[in-house]
Amino acid sequence: MKHQLLDTYGRVHKDLRISITDRCNFRCSYCMPEDGLEWTPREELLTYEEIERLSSLLVTRFGVESIRLTGGEPTVRANLSDLIARLAKLNVDLSMTTNGATLSLAANRLKEAGLQRINISLDSLQRKRFAELTRRDNLEQVLEGISTATQVGFDPVKINMVVMKGINDDEILDFVEFGRREKVVVRFIEFMPLDADEAWDQKRVMPLSEILEIISKAHGLIPVERGNSPAARWRYEDGAGEIGVIATVSDAFCDSCDRIRLTADGKFRNCLFALKDYDVRELLRNGADDDQISNLFVHGVKEKWAGHQIGKSVFIRPSKSMSQIGG
Ligand code: GTP
Ligand code: 5AD
Ligand code: SF4
Repeated sequence: MKHQLLDTYGRVHKDLRISITDRCNFRCSYCMPEDGLEWTPREELLTYEEIERLSSLLVTRFGVESIRLTGGEPTVRANLSDLIARLAKLNVDLSMTTNGATLSLAANRLKEAGLQRINISLDSLQRKRFAELTRRDNLEQVLEGISTATQVGFDPVKINMVVMKGINDDEILDFVEFGRREKVVVRFIEFMPLDADEAWDQKRVMPLSEILEIISKAHGLIPVERGNSPAARWRYEDGAGEIGVIATVSDAFCDSCDRIRLTADGKFRNCLFALKDYDVRELLRNGADDDQISNLFVHGVKEKWAGHQIGKSVFIRPSKSMSQIGG
């Protein structure tokens, strides 16, 4: 009989996010300091065999239904299609979030290995601003990557735009038109306090209500049912696709959260903003059996809180940055 990863608030966890590296070929200011972070040494990263074992346990014993690979930047890890092929055998919804810089070369191989869905981070369509935000002059490569991803048949391709007031909020409608033209789903994301430079400020957050106000002046929007996803969704009245808004700050979706996480160095986390994690790698490497590892997962989920407290005085920023936790 299957067990469940049930927390004390009645939430059953079925969505696994695995960061496979904390390295990245970009240095986005909201995610990593300019001179980078100390990368986790290779021997401390979970191997593909270890990732496969943990994933398989979570799927077969606990009914996990979806796995998303994140980073850092997942495509910087060698032989990524080998890992994808291993996970594809688990028959889950298998997806990845990437900065897109290497996709024009890699998308086809990843698709053939069994990757089903892809989300691409892109915060500016202006070359100079893109280079400032990512500290890399790679807008052209990312745009090529997006177009290759759609050409090789990923559907939907989703674009993640983190909206930061006074920084890129003047591009919301440009992204709307980009999404409609390129037939990709643009998701507008409220800026979260997980930036490595600690530059986050409530004043920089563009709330869902303001994002929608801007978009609905240009196009009619009809709400779409959301499910457990963090993104609230709307489709364009004229049928030209859909958008999403991830409103972590102004409208937290913690009540319906079904996510668990593994970090690149083998820690289990029960929340993006968790202040504590659980060392699975140590158990694995000490020869633990499936029951012992399962106990760690069950315990880790039981200890999950009701939700984050962003914006309140009790909120404590996790000591790890986004690139280390895995988004
Ligand atoms: P799908 O809905 O399956 O496409 O995935 P997703 O949107 O969750 O994945 P993606 O990696 O593209 O994340 C989009 C944004 O949602 C990023 O800014 C993430 O950091 C944020 N996000 C992902 N998971 C969580 C979560 O558990 N809590 C919160 N608050 N935000 C999350
Ligand atoms: N706030 C909101 N979203 C963020 N991301 C990275 N840092 C932040 C932040 N501070 C997004 C990236 C990527 C996803 C994994 O998380 O743009 O799309
Ligand atoms: Fe889930 Fe934590 Fe994200 Fe809330 S903040 S949705 S509890 S992972």
